[in-house]
Amino acid sequence: MSILKGKNILLGVTGSIAAYKACEIVRLLTKTGAGVQVMMTHSGTRMIGPATFAALSGRDVLTDLFPKTPKAGLEHIHLAETLDAIIVAPATANIIAKTAHGIADDLLSTTLLACDVPKLFAPAMNFRMWRNEATQSNIAVIKQRGVSIIDPTHGQLASLAVGEGRMAEPQTIVDALQKLLGGKQDYYGKRVLITAGPTREPIDPVRFLSNRSSGKMGYALAAAARERGAEVTLISGPTALEPVAGCDFIAVETAEEMEKQVREKAPDQELIIMAAAVADFRIAHPETQKMKREGSTPILKLEPNPDILRKLRPITDAYLVGFALEMEEGRKNALQKLREKNLDAIFLNYADRAQSGFDKETNEGILFFKDSEKEIPFELQSKNSLAHRILTAIRNEMSGREKRKG
Ligand SMILES: Cc1cc2nc3c(=O)[nH]c(=O)nc-3n(C[C@H](O)[C@H](O)[C@H](O)COP(=O)(O)O)c2cc1C
Repeated sequence: MSILKGKNILLGVTGSIAAYKACEIVRLLTKTGAGVQVMMTHSGTRMIGPATFAALSGRDVLTDLFPKTPKAGLEHIHLAETLDAIIVAPATANIIAKTAHGIADDLLSTTLLACDVPKLFAPAMNFRMWRNEATQSNIAVIKQRGVSIIDPTHGQLASLAVGEGRMAEPQTIVDALQKLLGGKQDYYGKRVLITAGPTREPIDPVRFLSNRSSGKMGYALAAAARERGAEVTLISGPTALEPVAGCDFIAVETAEEMEKQVREKAPDQELIIMAAAVADFRIAHPETQKMKREGSTPILKLEPNPDILRKLRPITDAYLVGFALEMEEGRKNALQKLREKNLDAIFLNYADRAQSGFDKETNEGILFFKDSEKEIPFELQSKNSLAHRILTAIRNEMSGREKRKG
């Protein structure tokens, strides 16, 4: 569960061309379960309409210190008591200067002065404005007073000039907020590859063999790792799920395509979790034309698909985790796979239990480790919660191994 769940976040949007990127910040924040109140400066409203933010956040957008129909009480003071954090993204040179000097001449600058909560600014401006001594000294002042700054990046700016001044990416800003509020970042900077979903093996151009995997477990693992600071690559077979925000997402169909992508990415990874339900068999000779109903009933000949996991160890030093979906003799089969495929850990889950396994919201199972010969049972719980627990257990083992290696 994200540290942002249930938190009340104020997003200040100021008059930078990067204001459109703040829409994505609202979307990412609401996905974590946070409530988002958008507040815009007048210049901000010239860049992008408040209606967009109202629709995305589900709340009225605040723009005026003196609204046409004043509400009871003092909005900025009331907010000060209910907020958990403030993000200003994009932050103009102007709002940075006003914050540094305690100027309170509009709703956002007044709220910033009245609210004593963690604050995060994501500056965006022309590279000369950013480099200007006044801006740099204002940044130093607000940093020194405890405001967190996510430095702008180097790249092509709105003016098409190239330089430092591009606002950080929305996901980076949301990650920084999680960190600021004490979210676990035990995977910070770790490169993690996760596979998810089923594969589809063509019979002819319109038909295929597949399985009931929904991809939910793999996607939950990818989202949890991302939330904890990992750089995640998610390789997924066809699912009905939205790609996980902030991950490098690679869509594939067949086992062969998945193998190609996994082998390309594997050498660079520190952790690989193979949660995809790769079809064991494919059609030996798929038809190039749609098979007709008329005539004799076709007999489909199968051949084995590549065993992606078994061939990974020689090409990567990553911590390798497999998933075993079993019915009978689950423990025996999972332990055999752990050994034979040269894995570091394997998660046993079950294909024959009502609330767990394929296409369910919940799951349960046992995680077995090669090194410690330890096993950790996980009771039935949501796949999101299980994903976090599995990652915690794996991280502990990885740290143990890192220490042993010295
Ligand atoms: C098209 C356009 C783009 C602008 N982009 C930026 C920007 O990226 N960063 C910035 O600091 N100011 C930018 N400005 C200038 C600010 O809008 C201006 O300084 C304004 O007073 C900022 O007000 P605010 O901080 O209350 O939003 C831009 C102005 C225009 C007209």
